[in-house]
Amino acid sequence: MKAVVLGAAAGGGFPQWNSNAVACRRARAGDAAARPRMQASLAISGDGQRWFVINASPDLRQQIEAQPFIQPRQGLRSSPIEGVMLTGADVDAIAGLLHLRERQPFTVYGSDRVLAVLEANPIFDVLARDCVRRERVALNAPFEPRHVDGSACGLEVELFDVPGKVALYLERGSSPADLQGEPGDTVGVEVRARGERLIYIPGCAQVTERLKQRLAGASVVLFDGTLWEDDEMIRLGLGPKTGARMGHMSVSGDKGTMAAFRDIPVRRKIFVHINNSNPILLDDSVERRLVMKAGWEVAYDGMEVSP
Ligand code: MLT
Ligand code: MN
Repeated sequence: MKAVVLGAAAGGGFPQWNSNAVACRRARAGDAAARPRMQASLAISGDGQRWFVINASPDLRQQIEAQPFIQPRQGLRSSPIEGVMLTGADVDAIAGLLHLRERQPFTVYGSDRVLAVLEANPIFDVLARDCVRRERVALNAPFEPRHVDGSACGLEVELFDVPGKVALYLERGSSPADLQGEPGDTVGVEVRARGERLIYIPGCAQVTERLKQRLAGASVVLFDGTLWEDDEMIRLGLGPKTGARMGHMSVSGDKGTMAAFRDIPVRRKIFVHINNSNPILLDDSVERRLVMKAGWEVAYDGMEVSP
């Protein structure tokens, strides 16, 4: 199995278009310790030739131009991208589908809930139905994605529900029940091949016992690293919401991700979907040193994470 991070930042990217905060200014100025990052996405492959993209970020077009392995190699029109798997219906997970118009065949894999969002938004019909298949994936049940030519890809994939939140633009009420949504609104992806297990969870509100059991023994886990502290957006004057309100647990603290993973045996742990306010993005920050001391890596665009 091959796996490469196409984008390591949360929605908005790093730097974010309207942020003039210090970290974003450093990234814009070309500071080597504040490397820019595109919005979260992971490419996976069973044969190293044909690829599936987990989440089509709004930066997908640039991500393709940045990574030769997902660029066309044959004929006048072609793509090594055989499919897109979706972990939710957030803008940063689906907007990039619009970059994939132009009548190139591929398959979109998603839960019932996420595909229903695409169905309800006619703009996604630019992906012509006779060309781009939409495949409903049952939760917690392994399946083997197929290449466009019908061949098996050599990866066993499973979508599983995780505690999360409905997409921001689909929020209707503000009670916890309204916000948390239904199973399938937020999912993780487990990819298995030759005894190796890679797990990708860009958004997660809580590490439950059930999730711990799934994570145990994984070869590599790429996990929600949105915020350092639950109230950092408020504290830094960047916005009114806590991480919990956005459906993201935080990296630090007693109830944070580092604490939750302390007793979960995982070979390699990597933070992804990192918000531009999170100081772990900066190579020279105290917070970066702390996560590394706890055995975590911080993803960057182009990072090889093949198990
Ligand atoms: C999130 O991860 O919380 C969402 O991507 C936020 C958003 O849609 O901007
Ligand atoms: Mn997001």
